[in-house]
Amino acid sequence: MLIASGRSVDAYLRRVVEVATADHAAALAAVTTRAATVRGLVVDFILDGKASAPSPEVLAVEADEKFLFEAGPWLIGFVREALLSASDRRRGGVHHTDPALAGEVAGLAIELLDRPHVEIVVVDPAVGGGVFLLAAAERLKAPPTEVVSRLHGCDIDPMAVAATRAALTIWSGGIEPPSANLQVVDYLGPTVKVPSADLVIGNPPFLSQLKGTTARATSERRNLANRWPGVGRYVDTAAAFMLAAVDGLVAGGVWALIQPDSVLGASDAGPVRARLAATAPVERIWIDDARRFDAAIDTVALIGREGSSGEVTVFGGVPASESGVVSLPSPKSWAPLLAPARGVPTVREIAVAGTLGDLAVTTAGFRDQFYGLRHAVKEDEHTAVKLITSGLIDPLVNRWGTTSCRYDKRAWLHPAVVLELVADDIRDWVTARLRPKVLVASQTPTVEAIADQDGVFVPCTPVVTVEPHDPDDVWRIAALLTCPVTSALLAQAASGTALSANALRVSASRLAELPIPADDGAWMAAAMAARAGDVVATGAAMQQAFGIDDPVLVRWWHSRLPNRGAE
Ligand SMILES: C[S@@+](CC[C@H](N)C(=O)[O-])C[C@H]1O[C@@H](n2cnc3c(N)ncnc32)[C@H](O)[C@@H]1O
Repeated sequence: MLIASGRSVDAYLRRVVEVATADHAAALAAVTTRAATVRGLVVDFILDGKASAPSPEVLAVEADEKFLFEAGPWLIGFVREALLSASDRRRGGVHHTDPALAGEVAGLAIELLDRPHVEIVVVDPAVGGGVFLLAAAERLKAPPTEVVSRLHGCDIDPMAVAATRAALTIWSGGIEPPSANLQVVDYLGPTVKVPSADLVIGNPPFLSQLKGTTARATSERRNLANRWPGVGRYVDTAAAFMLAAVDGLVAGGVWALIQPDSVLGASDAGPVRARLAATAPVERIWIDDARRFDAAIDTVALIGREGSSGEVTVFGGVPASESGVVSLPSPKSWAPLLAPARGVPTVREIAVAGTLGDLAVTTAGFRDQFYGLRHAVKEDEHTAVKLITSGLIDPLVNRWGTTSCRYDKRAWLHPAVVLELVADDIRDWVTARLRPKVLVASQTPTVEAIADQDGVFVPCTPVVTVEPHDPDDVWRIAALLTCPVTSALLAQAASGTALSANALRVSASRLAELPIPADDGAWMAAAMAARAGDVVATGAAMQQAFGIDDPVLVRWWHSRLPNRGAE
């Protein structure tokens, strides 16, 4: 099987593009002729109903027969992509899929279909060069004539449709797909007519609506809003393809589409996730760990089916291997699906008694607070009111006065806050922070928190504060934040964000949603360990408080503590 990113393909494509005339159809016709000839076939490249004459220059490009034989059906699509200018590719969202990856996704999807292969109807909504139809065709155990008659595809580019037709004809040994099966049409538009499918599979265009060059026209926006109320104007076009795919399935059908991983977490895509969860929820996810597309975007393949169990199996790599099973999160964010692939252990069956928001108010400062303190910070070892930055917070260790920190482009050892000099508009905010609380650093590998029992520290943005209703809860909260479960839950929630690989983004709202443990006795013991500054003992007691014994989770947490201090 051909690996499209292999050198021979790249070299061949470069050579074809070099010699191709401005007539792209002639170049594609030449590649079709060569790929067909080595298989003993005569196949025309038919664009808009007419056969194109092959370009003699391209016919002369050297390539060995074995390569042409094996790569033939896939080559035509790749030549089509290579002939497009970079800006055309960007505008049309044209980034073809590696055949090996398409094969893995097709395999993972077809496995979920519980019906005889000979009956399976496949639709690719954005065929490009037909790589997903070829991938499905290779995996369906049925005679090529039967398979080809049930493959359907759409693309807005006539050249893509012509390339797919030629590709399938070569693959099947000369059996042309019925002409109505491959259409030049906007899959999201009102004129598309495809049969209900057992499998909708493909790689739709990723067209960010935040950029002028790829934003939808007003009429397209209106169409989508009418068809799926609640799906707003900023949703990536790729996400709308998921909804159309689900609408086009027979009962029990499967959809499998490549998506930008932002679709999992973007708030604009929330209504799309909610709709999918209610119709044909995701059952498998394949996560790209190697940027296999030449677009600078992290991608996933989402595979869903009506009546799925709510469990999602996570895969990665080519060939695909399983990296875990997680419950499908709420539509608010599916970013936690990325966690197993990023090495974050799954938190299972903890005993909880509510959320941190029941016990405390969580607060984050903003830029105003950062700049409003500017003229009020002085170096003063004996001050009563102290400034604390993220850099001074380690798990249960406050480094104020022992380690220098940076604030406002300067190094400080004893940053003090002179309340009278604080800007008027934030003075109330600052004084309200002077109470017993827990301070949490941001962008750290695990949650790093310290207790401020005397209420003397002013948090410097982005430090987040947790202020208990009952001041006696300070150490319990410090313990809750110094524990494997809490760090893993936040790492899961943050998995879709850019900085997630090694840093947790701690926000006030995420902290408020954290579960608190059911076993009060063990939690108290953890609070005592926290008060004594024993990070490892705190973590161990908190595991007990949550009623779990999970060495993998504990090891993961230990390995991320600063200086591996716990080992
Ligand atoms: C990312 S490429 C994928 C091609 C192919 N499925 C693959 O994976 O190699 C996206 C394709 O979608 C086509 N396209 C863009 N907008 C479309 C639309 N509204 N309906 C159908 N096809 C579309 C582009 O012409 C392009 O061929």
